[in-house]
Amino acid sequence: MAAYNIVDHEYDVVVVGAGGAGLRATFGMVQQGFKTACVTKVFPTRSHTVAAQGGIAASLGNIGEDNWQWHMYDTVKGSDWLGDQDAIEYMCREAVPAIRELEHAGVPFSRTPEGKIYQRPFGGHMRDFGAAPVQRACAAADRTGHAILHTLYSQSLKYNAEFFIEYFAIDLMMDETGCRGVVSIDMATGTIHRFKAQMTVLATGGYGRSYFSCTSAHTCTGDGNAMAMRAGLPTQDMEFVQFHPTGIYGAGVLITEGSRGEGGYLTNSEGERFMERYAPTAKDLASRDVVSRSMTMEIREGRGVGPEKDHIYLHLEHLGADVLHKRLPGITESAKVFAGVDATKAPIPVLPTVHYNMGGVPTNYMGEVIKPTTANPDATVPGLMAIGENACVSVHGANRLGANSLLDLVVFGRAAALRCRDILKKGEKQKPLAKDASDLALSRLDRIRNANGSSTTAAIRKQMQRTMQNDAAVFRTTKTLKEGIGKLSQIAPMLSDLKTTDRSLVFNTDMIEALELENLMACALATIHGAEARHESRGAHAHEDFPNRDDENCLKHTVAYVDDKWNVKLDYRPVHKYTLTNEIEYIKPKARVY
Ligand code: FUM
Repeated sequence: MAAYNIVDHEYDVVVVGAGGAGLRATFGMVQQGFKTACVTKVFPTRSHTVAAQGGIAASLGNIGEDNWQWHMYDTVKGSDWLGDQDAIEYMCREAVPAIRELEHAGVPFSRTPEGKIYQRPFGGHMRDFGAAPVQRACAAADRTGHAILHTLYSQSLKYNAEFFIEYFAIDLMMDETGCRGVVSIDMATGTIHRFKAQMTVLATGGYGRSYFSCTSAHTCTGDGNAMAMRAGLPTQDMEFVQFHPTGIYGAGVLITEGSRGEGGYLTNSEGERFMERYAPTAKDLASRDVVSRSMTMEIREGRGVGPEKDHIYLHLEHLGADVLHKRLPGITESAKVFAGVDATKAPIPVLPTVHYNMGGVPTNYMGEVIKPTTANPDATVPGLMAIGENACVSVHGANRLGANSLLDLVVFGRAAALRCRDILKKGEKQKPLAKDASDLALSRLDRIRNANGSSTTAAIRKQMQRTMQNDAAVFRTTKTLKEGIGKLSQIAPMLSDLKTTDRSLVFNTDMIEALELENLMACALATIHGAEARHESRGAHAHEDFPNRDDENCLKHTVAYVDDKWNVKLDYRPVHKYTLTNEIEYIKPKARVY
């Protein structure tokens, strides 16, 4: 192996990732006085959270009565009862103070005429335990993620967080005591940086890019999930992949659900508002899994629009130019750029598109990573946390409600900092790292930098993405899933025959993309194996051979381990069917009524 230039650092906390979760955790850690490093492969305000549009859910009740119990009920129901109810209670309760803190930190929310934070309706958010839609999504026009990201980055800098920007995290450093930190490469110089810390917080986002068409940025490559799996830790519930109903046809770019919150609606080739048939109460504001499946059914039954009858129309033109410019300026522009449509005059062509990963590294509601044992399904890994889309807390269960993602980021980023306040000591002396602490990471880097086989990253990635897109789609069958597993078992080993061409260490994107592809591959395998083994339909997992939810046999979390030969081992752990306090009764599974 080549000799690499290594720089060692010691911090109380190292946060990996600078999206909404990573920045909220970083901000919280420095506020508590912890010496904190934030290591990020992209500039913080370019993290994928910047693309979050419609809102962040909290029962502020600014426009009509609301309370956290209704929010909790909707979230449990939206999760198709796979969510952990203690964690959901925590998120919905803490939503209110978490939003107030964001407001005080300077997030420029849109306002009501009286000056309160503006809230819009969003899919699945209802009042009176499902009776009618409620306005719960706090919005900064349709650029809510952008607004939050900029505020959290400025606040973190104000409290002297140290940012290591365009540093790519390669692997965790683990020893017999737990996690000791992370090994990364400064992409500009090729210098290796080892961050030793009392606590490592994974906040690297989702892995949408394991699919061919998604709303996720090219940076969403499941780095944290894969680092955890390479360290022998599991991921959880990876089979639950959310399709957002309204990606722009052909481009995949997101058109916020907030557009339907403002009164937009979907039609088929007959001009019919078909959601009235599928979800008579919530209609176009039913949860995303329901809307995506309904759209797919319409297309399958020949009622899609366009020459190929392969998409659906989203109508906003009746809202008028004033509303579109004030409340939805970003998507009005996206429609023009990516679909060539003036949304004030014509409908936008849309199609369900991969948007969010409910699965991730299992954690408790304080952000601590779980590695289940036979004796304790909730056993935690010392020194390691995961938050945001990287984690599976599990507050979203089998399907996430819109506007609960930004909420998850800030509530659990904040929770991680609160937990560190309780369990860490500022500046505590840490024992030295073992001599070989970074050997595994460096040998992986070296292998990829010098790979001289015959398959390019682009070719392998394309095959993986096509397989996931076709065989682990909105609707799945035993046949497609088994075929997909068969294909991936041929595609993944191609990574041993990888060809890279750039041997340098300065902005070697050839090498970084290959490292990312290995991460995506581990996530794709966990996803498709978990899906094949789940013999029911629940939330985003719509299995045509098992169309019903099976609470008797399948109300359990899947945990998946992927080894370095791409073998997948599945196991299960119980769902938390209890609440954190006794202020709301455990919400029992009910028949599906939308
Ligand atoms: O539709 C949207 O604005 C997306 C929001 C979300 O995924 O929470």
